[in-house]
Amino acid sequence: MNVSFRFPLEDNYFINEAFNTLSINLRFSGPDRKVITMTSCFENEGKSFTVLQLARHLCLDGKRVIVIDADMRKSMIVAKYTELSGIKGLSELLSEMVTLDEALYHVDNIPGMDIIFSGDYPPNPCVLLGNHRFHDLIAQFREQYDYVLIDNAPLVPVVDALLCAKVSDGVVLIVNRGSVRQKVLRSVTGQIEKSGAELIGVILNDNGKKKSPFRRKRKPKNGYYSYGKSAKDSK
Ligand SMILES: Nc1ncnc2c1ncn2[C@@H]1O[C@H](COP(=O)(O)OP(=O)(O)OP(=O)(O)O)[C@@H](O)[C@H]1O
Ligand SMILES: [Mg+2]
Repeated sequence: MNVSFRFPLEDNYFINEAFNTLSINLRFSGPDRKVITMTSCFENEGKSFTVLQLARHLCLDGKRVIVIDADMRKSMIVAKYTELSGIKGLSELLSEMVTLDEALYHVDNIPGMDIIFSGDYPPNPCVLLGNHRFHDLIAQFREQYDYVLIDNAPLVPVVDALLCAKVSDGVVLIVNRGSVRQKVLRSVTGQIEKSGAELIGVILNDNGKKKSPFRRKRKPKNGYYSYGKSAKDSK
């Protein structure tokens, strides 16, 4: 199936320069870095924006790239970047409700770029990402593409990204300027290292949104952070 993507700020010189540099850095990090998990500490730090822009720049350089939207809890990629609705994606693919052909989209306006959207919110994202079907899928894509970029949920509320990291060659952490305290950053990088994954880079982003310089240090009411539909459901 085919999809056309809207890329916000695609003509912005500074953003294009930054992503050119990033794509060169990734290419120079070696041929073994094919499958990359991208995550952040909190939501809205620019993971999806970065994954899609990086994929676009790698493809403009002639690479074959697949983006996997593994944020099955709250992905906004379909709504924000495409005209599609009601599509099936990773959650249905890993639950064997659709075939790979039905879940895989070729991006019309970026030759070389394919994507698997997140699909509907499943009850068990961690189980699906820890399952051998996900591992097999990544192994297959390793053979077919130059790069496999996995977009994720943020790491402070949920550990999904660590499951993706297990099948990846490295993790890239996106940190939005002024959004994350040093202590949280240390704890998240420690979490990544303890999981056995390799943190291969940190991207300092600026999503352009003004907000308080740091998240307030307060305990969530229910004792844990929530993210995605489960967050809404618990209200
Ligand atoms: N470098 C940037 N320049 C301009 N806008 C940006 C930049 N990075 C992110 N944004 C914008 O900030 C918003 C949040 O970005 P994005 O959706 O990529 O965050 P996210 O980390 O994927 O969030 P979530 O955790 O909710 O999935 C979007 O509107 C995006 O277009
Ligand atoms: Mg996102």
